[in-house]
Amino acid sequence: MRTRITELFGIQYPIIQGGMHFVGLADLAAAVSNAGGLGIITGLTQKTPAKLAAEIARCRDMTKKPFGVNLTFLPSFEAPPYDEYIAAIIDGGVQIVETAGRNPEAYMPALKAAGISVIHKCTSIRHSLTAERIGCDAVSVDGFECGGHPGEDDIPNMILLPRAAEELSVPFVASGGIGNANQMVAALAMGADGINMGTRFIATKEAPVHENVKQAILAASELDTRLIMRPMRNTERVLSNGAVDRIIEIERQKGADLKIEDIRHLVASVYPKVMTDGDLEAGAWSCGMVVGLINDIPSCQELIERLIAEAKDIIRGNLTALLAD
Ligand SMILES: Cc1cc2nc3c(=O)[nH]c(=O)nc-3n(C[C@H](O)[C@H](O)[C@H](O)COP(=O)(O)O)c2cc1C
Repeated sequence: MRTRITELFGIQYPIIQGGMHFVGLADLAAAVSNAGGLGIITGLTQKTPAKLAAEIARCRDMTKKPFGVNLTFLPSFEAPPYDEYIAAIIDGGVQIVETAGRNPEAYMPALKAAGISVIHKCTSIRHSLTAERIGCDAVSVDGFECGGHPGEDDIPNMILLPRAAEELSVPFVASGGIGNANQMVAALAMGADGINMGTRFIATKEAPVHENVKQAILAASELDTRLIMRPMRNTERVLSNGAVDRIIEIERQKGADLKIEDIRHLVASVYPKVMTDGDLEAGAWSCGMVVGLINDIPSCQELIERLIAEAKDIIRGNLTALLAD
């Protein structure tokens, strides 16, 4: 399969594994890249720039193919030393960076001077246009369905992707809600140059997370995600659990007065407890609506090969058969 995204990143298939806190370690990134997609290490999961440098080196030991690093600029309790993380990325010879959250403009000169391709994750057309204007090479268009932070506009991919196709000149991938080949073909039909998946990649053999997390994803339906932190305009889509019920109850009680301190114990430092220890009730953790479509735990290679084989069948077979002449 050849698209502007496979050309830009030098990968075989237009399938990206989005950065995921405490999931996007070298093991998963290397597995996705070895299978012909683009694996991404989540930068800030590594507590220091030195640890990120070591994780990049570990990934390079496991794959000779291109992989990227995610840098997330979200409101955090303590601002990370982004310049030093970028230095670790550059020194590690990484050629692709996925940025997300706030506008990465301040960091673009350093990234571009090092010849790095930047794909910025956006939840709106206006942010996508800004990304294009500040020199991002591609955009990951994240619809309302997505796991993690869907923004505040609530536009699902059925609208967002064709709008992106109307407005953007740079290549873009469809992100959010995707787990199978029908959806991948639909995204390509709506103008995307590829797909980005998060939640689907957690339920793979190589995802370095506790088995409880994978089983929770298999067990959940499309009705099982919730939106939290809306009152603070930092909305996050998470898997429903007892902690999330408590957050929603606190949000209801506090209304517009909600402060991060009110829910901090239920949203901070949660990921190692969930992803590493398997304590699913430790707090709120990101998960997309696509859980309703995830029913197995394949290897990354099995997943990617299945997506590509089925996508080819859909394009050559099912869709072509619809033509009357
Ligand atoms: C558990 C989890 C953690 C995530 N952590 C991050 C993160 O640290 N930075 C980021 O940019 N996106 C993060 N995301 C978002 C993903 O990169 C991706 O954009 C999103 O999962 C796409 O939606 P999907 O889950 O429906 O495929 C996370 C998603 C999940 C499910």
